[in-house]
Parts: sequence; C-alpha cells; structure tokens
Amino acid sequence: MKNTSGTTEQKRRAGESAADLVTDGMVVGLGTGSTAAHAIEALGQAVDAGLDVEGIPTSFQSRQLALEHGIPLTSLDAVDRVDVAIDGADQVAGFTLVKGGGAAHAREKIVDAAADRFVVVADPSKLTDDLDYPIPVEVLPAARPTVADAIAALGGDPVLRQAERKDGPVVTDNGNVVLDCDFGVVDEPAALATDLSALPGVVEHGLFVDMADEVHVGRDDGVERRTR
Ligand code: A5P
Repeated sequence: MKNTSGTTEQKRRAGESAADLVTDGMVVGLGTGSTAAHAIEALGQAVDAGLDVEGIPTSFQSRQLALEHGIPLTSLDAVDRVDVAIDGADQVAGFTLVKGGGAAHAREKIVDAAADRFVVVADPSKLTDDLDYPIPVEVLPAARPTVADAIAALGGDPVLRQAERKDGPVVTDNGNVVLDCDFGVVDEPAALATDLSALPGVVEHGLFVDMADEVHVGRDDGVERRTR
C-alpha cells in the first residue's frame, strides 16, 4: 500500500533538508519508509563527522537502518524529551497526513506526537487538497471481523492488507494486522480519527490530524519548506 511515485532525488533532498535541522545533543525520532531513510542516512553521515545525537526508531526498518549508519539509539522511556521527529507520509493535506503505507503508523504516531517538532519529509506526489488514500488501521488479529464491520458501518471499505512475499496478511512489528480502509474523500479527518480510535480492537489508525509542524517537500530544483 505504498504511494511513492516521487523520484529518489526528490526524496533525498527532503530527507537531507530535515536532517540538517538536527544539532548536537538532540534526541531524534527516526521515521519509517523510503523518504525518512534518506534522513537517517544523512544523520549517519553527520554522526560520522562528529554530531552527537540519539535516535528513537519507529520500526524494525528504521532501527536496522540507524544501526547500519552508526546512529546511537535510545527509547522513549530513557529520555526526557524528543527534540525533533522526521517522518514520511503517504498523503499530505496542509499539516494533516495519512500514514501507514509501511504498516508502521502506530509507533510512528507515538514518537511523532511526542516530539517538540514533527517534520514531515515528502516528494510532490504526496501533496493533495483532498485526503482520499485508504486509511491504514492496525487491528488486534482477534478483533479483525468486528472492526471490519464497524468500519463498514462508518462508510469505509476495509481490506485486509496481504503480504507480498509471505502467504497471508501483513503482520506489523507489533504482531497485528492492517485493514486498508477506503473512505473516498475524507471531508472531516478529525471526526473520522475520533470514530476509528473509539473502536475496540483498533491499535492505531493512519490519520495524523494537524500533527505536522513543518513539511519539507523535495523537488527537482530544491526543497520547499512549509511551516505553520
Ligand atoms: C510507514 O508506515 C509510513 O507511514 C511511511 O512513513 C509512509 O508510507 C511514507 O513512506 P515513503 O517515504 O516510502 O513513501
């Protein structure tokens, strides 16, 4: 369920631009996905050059990448604050996002929400006026049927995300499954977010309502920084 039609160069520019915000002594939330990976790589280079930071990964993928690039790691229970989180998105409308194309949105939301400054890195294909990307909903496996029924009653079309190189469903880093829920255009993301969060068995959904502090859009000729 990836929405990544941007170029590698656009993603690299966005990732490097966000990594440039990190200074000595910071704790950094390390997002998941192909765009955040460029930020992690850039941070690794900065660490090599002497930058003193600690990272909090949001997934198995971002943890592995950070380890490969020599970024010291920590966790939310070991720090007083998260200075900045850098993370990708599947759709960006203003400062509201749809995330979870890589099934990492539960941990991403925890870390991104904890950060003093949440910086989104994106290529231009992610920008939209109308949020219409299917909303990923991470669900406890035992609750899949009841949550699917409840989502249908809310007007969504839930589809169990299937793995590509494994038989059966995608299993998240937390041991759960994901329903990709097409609601068409989401006119009221805050209301839908509240409804989804209220369903028993929902671990987390991919609507990040008004959560971003800034968006760095990598373009062919540079980076556009959108701030509040
Ligand atoms: C992970 O579950 C997602 O929230 C990613 O952050 C999102 O899919 C963006 O990934 P790309 O940068 O690979 O498009």
